[in-house]
Order: sequence, then structure tokens, then C-alpha cells
Amino acid sequence: SQVSLNGFPHYMLKEIFEQPETIRAAMRGRLDEDEATAKFGGLNLTPRQLQRVDRLVLTACGTSWHSALLGEYMLEAFARIPVEVEYASELRYRNPPLSTNSLLFAITQSGETIDTLAALREIKRKGHPTLAICNVVGSTIAREADGGVYLHAGPEIGVASTKAYTSQCTVLALLALYIGRLNHLSFEAGLRIIEELKALPDQVEKALDTNNEARRIAAKYAGCNNFLYLGRQFNFPTALEGALKLKEISYIHAEGYPAAEMKHGPIALVDENTPSVFIVPQGGVYHKVISNMEEIKARGGPLIAVVDDPSGRAAELADDVICVPSVSEFLQPIVAAVPLQLLAYHIAVHRGCDVDKPRNLAKSVTVE
Ligand code: G6P
Repeated sequence: SQVSLNGFPHYMLKEIFEQPETIRAAMRGRLDEDEATAKFGGLNLTPRQLQRVDRLVLTACGTSWHSALLGEYMLEAFARIPVEVEYASELRYRNPPLSTNSLLFAITQSGETIDTLAALREIKRKGHPTLAICNVVGSTIAREADGGVYLHAGPEIGVASTKAYTSQCTVLALLALYIGRLNHLSFEAGLRIIEELKALPDQVEKALDTNNEARRIAAKYAGCNNFLYLGRQFNFPTALEGALKLKEISYIHAEGYPAAEMKHGPIALVDENTPSVFIVPQGGVYHKVISNMEEIKARGGPLIAVVDDPSGRAAELADDVICVPSVSEFLQPIVAAVPLQLLAYHIAVHRGCDVDKPRNLAKSVTVE
């Protein structure tokens, strides 16, 4: 590739470390403090048109689908609009009943994923406005959508997506703020969200300090062949994405699950060789997730916890702890994604895997 490794052993690691800067780039020029909202150049929809939207459909594949799922939580919290998240490969052959005022977001790093493109075309054909959240400028999906938002994350070379994911999450937070401010969200609330977003790149910078701890924990568990990733609410998508990262680059079987749902199946997998990675920052469901941790501990499963309170009960229960900065709940997934990327990276390196070009996977899937 023409993109330099900048001294990093792999593109994936370089891209993980770029995230403070790529998140800054995703927000650049898009925070409007006077109006306590976000602003975008290329939506091609008037505020009036956006106010009439009564349903959002978010579609994507792979890691981008995980950002869509987080987008659902953020959009519902800030904009109070019903959101549906659909795998593009499913949406393209469905005929979902959509109101006239439904709006589609297609989320894609490459802008070339064939299923996402087909889903976009299908929804567009039915007369709905379509927006792309995309990294590659001028890509097919960026061109075919009615409007959209670019990530400006720069080229992502590692097949497993890292910086594009956190940029997608950031852009979705901005969109939730913007649409929220067109509807129910107060000036005060908008301003608070802006302050939190402004602090995010520095928090992600601090989350990169978990690298040594992630490397140590990776060495300890690299021989395990099954992992569970568990989180709730905003961090349910984080659990899915953490598991996917591990699967993609280390070829270890990993399942992401809503933490409380694990008692309906995955708990049967728990034994002393099956670590559970909990994403358990402080917040509304903290104590609930603690109970889930206790259930796993009682069955002899090793616990790895990503926490933001090193002296809390979660850290006390866990065998291994990764501590990230404390941020508002809707931004926790972005901060928590970093150590999970690093954990997957170091486990894959430990196992001698080809981190940047994992077997059987492609950077963008342009055949059905
Ligand atoms: C492939 C890549 C993933 C990516 C997915 C969707 O499976 O390996 O990293 O998340 O495609 O790609 P897109 O470019 O549409 O985001």
C-alpha cells in the first residue's frame, strides 16, 4: 500500500492509534455551539423535511452494522424517533412496510459493499430519501445516495475496521444531536452533548494508554478458543463489535451478547477456559451487569472487565481489569471500543495471525 505504516508493525495498530485524530476529523466544522446543535454540508434535506421524518432505517454490513445498532440507541435517546436497524443483505430482499416519511441511512466505510448498495437502491426505488455515512469520497454509495456525511477518517487499510467504526459512531452521535435539536432536545441538553463530544478525542487518547494492559491480558488468554463479550444498552453493540474484532483477526470463536441475555444460552459455554469480556462502565445498568458477572464467576469463568471505575465492584470481581476514562453513557462505546480493538490485536499477534489481511475476509465485499 502507498499509505505509510509510520513505524507501526501493522496498519491495524496504526489505525487504532489514529483514532483521537480521526474522531476530531469527523467532528471538524460540524459543531454549532451558538445553536447547540450539529451541522452538515451535504445532507441535501431541509430542516423542514427532516422534521417530517417519522422513521429512520439504518442499514449496513459487518462492523458498520454495529455502528448502526449504536446509532439506534443514540437516535432514540436524543431524537425520539423510531429507528430500525437492518442487515443490508436482509433489507434488500425484504419488503418492509415503510411510512412515506421514512428516511434511510446507509452506513459503509468503503461505499462499495454490494448488499448495502442494493438495499439503498431498493429503498430509493420506493421513493424514500437516502443518506450515506461513508468514508471513501466519491464511492458508489456516496454517489447514489441523495446526500450524506463523510467520515474523513483517511484510508483504512487493515481489513478489520477500527477507526472507521469509531468515526461512524461519532457521526451518528452528531446526527442524533442534530435531529434531536429539530425535535425534542432542549438548548441546554444540546450544549451538554456538544461539551461531551468536544472532550471525546482526548478521552480516546487516554483510552490508548490501555495498550500495555491489553497486551498483558492478551498473552494470558491467547490460548483460549472461545470468548464471550457482554454488555448492555449502549454497550451491547460494543460487545458485538469486540467479539467480531477477535473473530476476524485471531480466528477465535467469540460471541457478543446483551449481558443479561447470556443466561438464555451462552452461559452453558462457560468454563475455566472461556473468558467473558464485560463492558461495564458506570451508569444506569451498572449493578445489573454486576449480577451477570457474578453468575459467570460462580461457574468458574474467567472475567475480563472494561471499567471506568477502578475501585468499583466490577473491578473487584474481575480477574483482569482494563480501565478507560469516564464519559457520558452515549460515548462509552467509543471509548470502550479502543481496548477491545487492542485486545483482539494483541491476541492475534500472539497467535501469529496475519492481522492486516485475515484469511477468507475482504476489505470490501463487492460480490453478493
Ligand atoms: C467487510 C469488512 C468489514 C466491514 C464490512 C462492511 O466484511 O471486512 O470490516 O465492516 O465489510 O464494509 P463497509 O465498507 O460497507 O463498511
